[in-house]
Parts: sequence; structure tokens; C-alpha cells
Amino acid sequence: MPDATHAIATPAPSQPAVIHRSDYRPPAWMVPDVSLDFDLDPDATRVRAKLDVRRGSAAGEPLRLDGAGQTLLSVHVDGVAVNDWTLDNDALVIPLSGEAHTVETEVEIAPEANSQLMGLYASSGILCTQCEAEGFRRITYFPDRPDVLARYRVRMTADKARFPILLANGDPVDGGDLDDGRHWAEWHDPYPKPSYLFALVAGDLAVNRGSFTTMSGREVVLGIWVREGDLARTDHALHALKLSMAWDEQVYGREYDLDVFNIVAVDDFNFGAMENKGLNIFNSRYILADPDTATDIDYDNVAGVVAHEYFHNWSGNRITCRDWFQLSLKEGFTVYRDQGFSADQGSAAVKRIEDVRSLRASQFPEDGGPLAHPVRPESFIEISNFYTATIYNKGAELIRMMATILGPQRFRAATDLYFERFDGTAATCEDFVACMEDAGGVDLSQFRLWYSQAGTPRVAATLDHQAGGGRATLRLSQQVPATPGQPEKHAMVLPLKIRLFGAETGRPLTDEQLVLLDQPAETLVFEAISERPVLSINRGFSAPVVIESDRSPADLAFLSGHDDDPFARYEAMQQLMLDTLVAGAIEGQADHRAVIGAVGATLSDPSLDPAFVAEAVLLPAEGFIADQLATVDPEAVFTAREALRRDLGAQLEGQWREAYDGPRAPYAYTPRDKGLRRLRNVALGYLAATGAEDAAKLAFTQFAAADNMTDRQGALQVLSNTDFDERVAAFDIFFHRYADNPLVLDKWFQTQALSSRADTADVVVELAQHRAFSLTNPNRARALVGAFGVNQRAFNRADGVGYRFLADQLIALDRINPQTSAKLLPPLGRWRRFDPARSALMRGELERIVATPGLSKDLFEQASKSLE
Ligand code: ARG
Ligand code: ZN
Repeated sequence: MPDATHAIATPAPSQPAVIHRSDYRPPAWMVPDVSLDFDLDPDATRVRAKLDVRRGSAAGEPLRLDGAGQTLLSVHVDGVAVNDWTLDNDALVIPLSGEAHTVETEVEIAPEANSQLMGLYASSGILCTQCEAEGFRRITYFPDRPDVLARYRVRMTADKARFPILLANGDPVDGGDLDDGRHWAEWHDPYPKPSYLFALVAGDLAVNRGSFTTMSGREVVLGIWVREGDLARTDHALHALKLSMAWDEQVYGREYDLDVFNIVAVDDFNFGAMENKGLNIFNSRYILADPDTATDIDYDNVAGVVAHEYFHNWSGNRITCRDWFQLSLKEGFTVYRDQGFSADQGSAAVKRIEDVRSLRASQFPEDGGPLAHPVRPESFIEISNFYTATIYNKGAELIRMMATILGPQRFRAATDLYFERFDGTAATCEDFVACMEDAGGVDLSQFRLWYSQAGTPRVAATLDHQAGGGRATLRLSQQVPATPGQPEKHAMVLPLKIRLFGAETGRPLTDEQLVLLDQPAETLVFEAISERPVLSINRGFSAPVVIESDRSPADLAFLSGHDDDPFARYEAMQQLMLDTLVAGAIEGQADHRAVIGAVGATLSDPSLDPAFVAEAVLLPAEGFIADQLATVDPEAVFTAREALRRDLGAQLEGQWREAYDGPRAPYAYTPRDKGLRRLRNVALGYLAATGAEDAAKLAFTQFAAADNMTDRQGALQVLSNTDFDERVAAFDIFFHRYADNPLVLDKWFQTQALSSRADTADVVVELAQHRAFSLTNPNRARALVGAFGVNQRAFNRADGVGYRFLADQLIALDRINPQTSAKLLPPLGRWRRFDPARSALMRGELERIVATPGLSKDLFEQASKSLE
């Protein structure tokens, strides 16, 4: 028992500490080996830890072990009980005289009471862990930082009836029964790893088994572990895992390195999934899928996340991060890798469109708002707040740009070099870039600004042609906007793929060329351009920038039908739609003819993949339209978008009907069928927008007759935006049919929270009182509160009811689960973008949050930065 006279934590300071990248120091003590012994019980779990510690960098320093929330029971050094330790806030500080010691601690923790879902917690009767970034310290005292790599031995003891399955990292080595109804298992992970990759699971689980033979002929036993009743929905995940293992061998030369690979699905999880060595733990929404309950998008996400976590075995686990400022080293690269995997499973063009759409929906607003930060941040209060679209998705764009600059062969040589040079170590973003330079033979000095400068660069492009003269002049200039803490920016390296097309003949006038714009302004000259050229720029979205060009509606419509780069075709259509919608929002009306013509041409082009057509004819999201306006007027944006939707629906009604009535076959998850379903659902949306008499019937019939969730939810979504009587009936049927399936009930909440109807804010406030709603399950909280926050029209209702609701929910959720609460705050931080009345209402709610007593540092950081 700890001695009562010990110095105990001073109360936490009112302003949480800021951690700076520049303060990095190598660890004072290393821990080459650790053994953990868990006596598992949901109410009181005992953890005995035995650490072999070796002095690292600084001489004379005591051993400092991070901790949080546990009850300390004993401390031994070299086998002898000691009591000269102190607690400094939550850290256990032990003075040690020699160079190497054995330190043992025993603590007690309470998994069942752990509602923040970090450390060891319970999810519907399953005990599981989540340690990234700093959850391991909630399990036992340890140097909880990614540059301390240890070999782990883990022994678990638990009641055999309640917890028949005991899993941990690495390979199982031993186990047995005890005479009191308990049993034990021991696992050993031979690969040194940081504490954030530790995992254990105990529960009554069933397994879908598979096997994979690696490229060197080793047999790996695979297991997807879920509750018995969910077993039938695990085949897709298992298949995706095998595809991922093969893909990483073929594309990156990376082979799996243990004899087993396990994945466990749990219902309560703070984010998507976690790449713990040999034992990935997933949010069940990224594992479970069958046609009746999962949409095509869900299927795609399952495969993408399974791949992502598997790929981390090399980009994250074999090579980890030196410190959390380097988070994008593993996340940006791994997102880039999972995007490549998904692109190879179906249409690469459609995948690129989806990725850019989500970058614009989540990363661009972050980069332009109060929470903007570089891909390698300089400081943070709570690292959990930095698992952002910037670290992940913009980080992936940085890797993509380097791959573009190097070309495929040199990029592969550079990743080979990276894996070889840094295997078994904790590396930095700089280490990665240095490998790109060394193997690629390029100088990336200026490119490094992408890691340190926040903000989305803007490129202005104007193309002039001397009629008859044959010379075309392209003037490019760049500007990087100011972001918090970074008022002045340097010019960056922007890799822009460019091509010119002839306006009359539609022929390409040049080859595609890669322009590296690295000056504030540059001029490019093209000779022998015999007809008026049209500019295709940033093809494939080669740089994550905003392009401002003076291309006319006619030129954009032309590119949308003639560019040979599918992404550029999509992009031209988006730009044309955006220009039209911005004009509509500002002037109250707009000329829709160019958009209608271009959409009509795309719909009737038989050479196009239906999946591409479905993406190309979708209007930009309300939030993205709003981002183009000096001051957001949510009602004007909504009205302009609805007007264009209605007009498109009515003017092209015949084509929508044709697309809707297209070939139908029983459900199959193939790229072709997926595309047809997507196009049909988009067409149904346009038909409903026209107010066509039979639209309600079409939607309801589809809803009732669907043999898959894509069509059922697609119809429900269409109905959700209307006044049709069928809307209420469909929601009722849906609720009762899926009342015992939490993942599908999330869709029921989410679809209502995303409705464009005028009464959505009131409906959402009421839904928060529904007996099936709960803030303790992060998926459910996100389905209602998270979805509502991105519903631009409903959330920004002029009377502020949406702002008040969000703040109320965040304050309540913060007491349960700070990490998830903080994630949902950003919509309130957009206040600068709105009119004075809305601004004041939003600021008032942020101030109320910041003034809440007992606020977590997670929510404090997000709310206080949003007010600055
Ligand atoms: N490394 C995990 C992944 O991206 C996510 C961990 C998120 N952690 C957090 N504290 N938000 O695969
Ligand atoms: Zn990741």
C-alpha cells in the first residue's frame, strides 16, 4: 500500500500545459523488456508490471513513469519494496542509482467505469483496450511515449465463462485452466513496440478464421473476432484483409511478420480502428457488413479501414513515430497507401474523386479556420485533438505529391529505402523526406514547407492566346493564406499537371506536363498553338490547392465533356456548377443553361462508367459552396442549390428516368453494380427534386422492395428531404425492422439529422430525447450530433437553436468522453464566416463551453482556440 505521507499530485493548473515540438528530448530511461500480468475483472482489474529499465540519454535523472487514474498498490525495485517514490501530478517518479534495474508496480483499475474509452474498458461485456495516443498510462505506470520500444510478455487471468477468449499482441505461447473457474493465457510479441500499440481483449467471442501464405511461404492464421450473432457479417472484412496482405507485398514489397493476425470488433470505439501489433481493434462499423445492413459505401469503408490498419504494420509499427508531432509520418503515408489499395479494387478515377470530395469537405475548412495547423504541428495541448483531416488527408496528399515528383519507380525505391533504413526505430517526417531525396535524386528543401506551413494555397491561372500568332501564355501565381500563428507565408512547390485542348476541334494541343510552380508567379509559353486553347490544370488533383481561373462557363462545359483525364472532367463540371451556384446565392438567380447542357451530355455519353457519371452530376455540397462566399448565407446557398437541382431534374427528366430504369440485377458488390446503384439513387434524388407526381411512389417502392441497404437507405434519404406522407411511414418501418441493430439505427438517426427540411433542427432536438439515443456510444453520438453539425442549413438556423443544442450536447458528452466531444466542436468555430447575428450566437456558445467548470483539456483546447 502506498505510504500516506507521500507527496501527492498538486491540483491540475487551470490552464492546461502546451507541449512544443522543439522541446523534444530523447528518453532518460529505456525499457527493453516488460512483463504484464492482468487479473481481469470489469470492476477491479489488478495489473502487475515488471519493467527492465536501462539508463538512456541523461545521467542522474530519476525514472519517470506516466500514469492516469489508477490506484497504486506497490512499488518494488530490484525485488525490494521501496517507498522513496513520489507522484508528480499523475506520474510516478522513482529515484534510481544504477544503470539498469528491475522495477515492479502493482495497480488497480476499473474498466467498467471507464466511459472515455481510453485504456482498458468494457464494451457490451467485452474487455478491450485503446492506447493511442496516451491511453497506456491509464493501464499501468510506464514511459508512455512512442520512442520507448519494448518487448512485451502479457499474462491474462479471467473468469472462463464470461471471458473464454483471451487475446493480446504477438503470438500465443501458453495457457491453462485454474481451479476457481478462472483460466489464463500468455502472449508474447517479439517485435519491440511503443506502448500505444499494446492491446488485449477478453470476451465471449466467435471467430471467422482464414489463412494467408506470405510471399516467402509463411502461413499466417487470420481471425476476425466478433459476438456470435455477428459472425455472418465478417466475410467481407476477412476477404479485404487477404487482399490487403497480398497488395502490400506486390506494391510495396512488405510481408507480414507474425504467425497470427487478429482483428476484434467492438461497438464502443472513439474512432475507426487501431493498428495494435498483431491485434487490431475495430469499431464494429468498419468490420460488419452484409447486403441487408451495409451500403456500398459501408463495404468500401470496411475494406479501406481493414487495409489501412493492416498497412500500419509496416508504416507505423515496424517504423513508428519519434514523437506525436510526427503523427503524419505514419498516418499520412498509411492513408496514401490505403487510397492506392482502394483505387486498385475498382475505378481509380472514382476513388480519386471521392478522396478529393472528402478533402474539400473536411480538410479545406479546417485549414481555413481557427483550428488550422501544419501537417507537422508545432504545439498542442491534447494530442487527441490532432487526429485530424490535416494530419491524415492533407498528409496523404503530401506523400502523393512526392510520388508524383519522383515518378513510380523512384518512389518505390524511396519507400524501400525508408523501410530498410528505419526498420525497428521511431522516425520523423524529416527522415521520410530525406529517403525521398536520397533515392529519388531530388532536392526537396522547399517542398518541406508543406510540413510546416498551414493553409490551402491558392493558384491564379490565366491563359492568353495570340490569335493567329500560335503562341499561348499561361500566367500562374500562388498565394498561401495567413493561418493562426503564421501571418506570413513563403512560396511553396506546387506540382501542377497541365494540358491544353483545342476549343474548336477538341484535340489535345500539348502533352500533359508537370509544372513545379515554386515562385510567387511564373509565366509559361506554349508555341505553335494553332487554335484557341482551353486550359486543363491540376489534373488528377496533383496538388491540394484551390485553382482560380478565368475559364468561361462554355470552356468548363467543354472540358467536362472532352478532357481525357476523368478527374479533370469531373473538376470542370464541379467548377461550372460552383460558379453557377455562387452566382445564384449572391444574386438570387443564375443562368442554369451551361450546367444543364453539361450534365445532359454526361448522362448521355455511353462511353462513361456509371459510377463516374453519378459523381460527375452531383452538385457540390452546401458547405463547399458556402466556403466560396465572403459571408455565408446558409438559406441563400440552400435556395440556390435547390433551384438548380429542381431545374436539372425537370429539364433532364427523361434522362433521369432512363438512368433510373437502367439494368437491374439481384444485389452483387461489384464495381459495375455499385456504379449502377449509385447512379440510380442520384437519379431518384433529381426526380424527387422536380416534384414529379410519381416520385414519392418510386422512392417508397424502392424502399420497400430493396434487397440491399444501399437502395433502401438511398430511398430513405430521398424521402427524408420531402413532405411526402411516405417519409414518415418509411422511417417507422426502418426503425422497427432494425431496432436491434445498432449500426443500422445509427443510419436512422443520421438520415434525419442530415435532412434538408426546414424543421430538422427541431426534429434533432427531439431525437436527442429518444429512448434509443445515448451519448455514451460514440457512433450514436456522431450519428445525431455529428451529422447535425455538418447540416449547414439546419445547424445554422437563424434563431441559434442549432448552436445551443450542439453546445449542450458537447458539455454533457465532455463529462463522459472528452475525446469524442472535442471532435464534434469544429462547426461552432466557423463563426467568423457568418453574419454578425449568427456570429454572436456561435461565440456565445463557445464562451459558455469554455466557462464550464471541470472542462476537459480536449474540449478546452478546441473551444478556446476557436474563439481566438
Ligand atoms: N492510429 C489509428 C488509425 O488511424 C487511430 C488512432 C486515433 N487515436 C486518437 N486518439 N484519436 O488507424
Ligand atoms: Zn492510421
